[in-house]
Amino acid sequence: MKRKELGVAVIGAGRIGTLRARLAARHPAVGFLAIADINADAARTLAERTDADFHSTDNNAAIEHPAVNAVIVSTPEHEHVAPVCRALELGKPVLMEKPLGLTLADADQILDTVKKTNGHLRIGYIRRFKRCFARAKQQVLDGHLGKIAGGTARVYNTRAQAFEILKRNPEATPVIDVLTYFVDLMLWFNAGNPPVEVVARSQTGVFKKAGYKVDDLTWAIVTLADGAIINLGISYALPSNYPILGQSDRVELLGEDGTMIIDDDHRDHQLYSEKGSGHAYVPGHKINFAFSGSNPSGDWALGDYWGPLGNETRSWLDHLVTGNPTAHATPAEARLVLETTVAIERAAASGERVRLPLET
Ligand SMILES: NC(=O)c1ccc[n+]([C@@H]2O[C@H](COP(=O)([O-])OP(=O)(O)OC[C@H]3O[C@@H](n4cnc5c(N)ncnc54)[C@H](O)[C@@H]3O)[C@@H](O)[C@H]2O)c1
Repeated sequence: MKRKELGVAVIGAGRIGTLRARLAARHPAVGFLAIADINADAARTLAERTDADFHSTDNNAAIEHPAVNAVIVSTPEHEHVAPVCRALELGKPVLMEKPLGLTLADADQILDTVKKTNGHLRIGYIRRFKRCFARAKQQVLDGHLGKIAGGTARVYNTRAQAFEILKRNPEATPVIDVLTYFVDLMLWFNAGNPPVEVVARSQTGVFKKAGYKVDDLTWAIVTLADGAIINLGISYALPSNYPILGQSDRVELLGEDGTMIIDDDHRDHQLYSEKGSGHAYVPGHKINFAFSGSNPSGDWALGDYWGPLGNETRSWLDHLVTGNPTAHATPAEARLVLETTVAIERAAASGERVRLPLET
């Protein structure tokens, strides 16, 4: 690897942009770092923290900077299109946060730009970069399961984090914003076997009472082209002090020749402290009892960042300089994931079965 050949712009200096920028700043190939955020304080604070070379409240000033040759877009879900498309138009590779957008129209604008510019875009589905899920994908590729008949994936989290996400955008529902990771995993494991039908049911409760048009619990059955059936479920409405610090999940795949069960509930590392544990995503939130490994992004420890978001960021930067293949989601994969989550929402709202592909 040549040293210092990358100039990286990080657009959006919030929770995830901060992690991306701190990781980029310490990557051996990065010789220039630019930060942009509409909030001047956020841009300046992160620039100071990472010793960045440039910061601005103008996204384009960072993206267009001549020293920048790679762009990470970590803006909120409804603010992805403009910075992603600008970078692609300039021929700069982009890593963007999931989902592609909150609507298929936004997603298609991005996909049209990728096509028009022959652009290099990858989408950050960090679950792929957790060791157990990468290993599972390899085991599927190696044929351990044989033909997959179906599976299940469900994820839980507390309402404390859900309210933080909804404050940012009330349209970023648990299905569109979080179940998306598990739809991506299941479609990745079943690559080449696209979803054709969705049935779903949901239940309202605490979010509705708080004024959001968001369900507490959604359960879906997704049928794939070859008839495989995938059960996907989410609740981000668990009580605020339940010990999850991000995601508690379980993923199962059932094949003709094998069965895979991935217990990712994080009960393997429990911490109880009278002093309380902080929450990386919810400022000021403290719980006495925690499933310590349940922040899906990872953890800072001993001066470095360990876990999926660290692996994913480093892997993308490595990919840019080495040209080696990468497991990051492609635009077409992310489009199919968004379409499936939109179908789940429509199926839950109507009670009707929804066929895919959707008529947009
Ligand atoms: N990969 C992961 O583990 C992971 C986890 C959580 C969230 N996300 C995704 O990351 C993205 C950001 O989430 P977050 O939790 O960091 O949000 P956040 O609210 O913490 O940060 C968003 C930042 O973007 C800034 N911003 C808003 N509009 C902007 C614009 N038009 N231009 C520039 N800056 C703008 C805000 O001022 C804020 O600083 C979302 O797409 C979310 O779904 C990914």
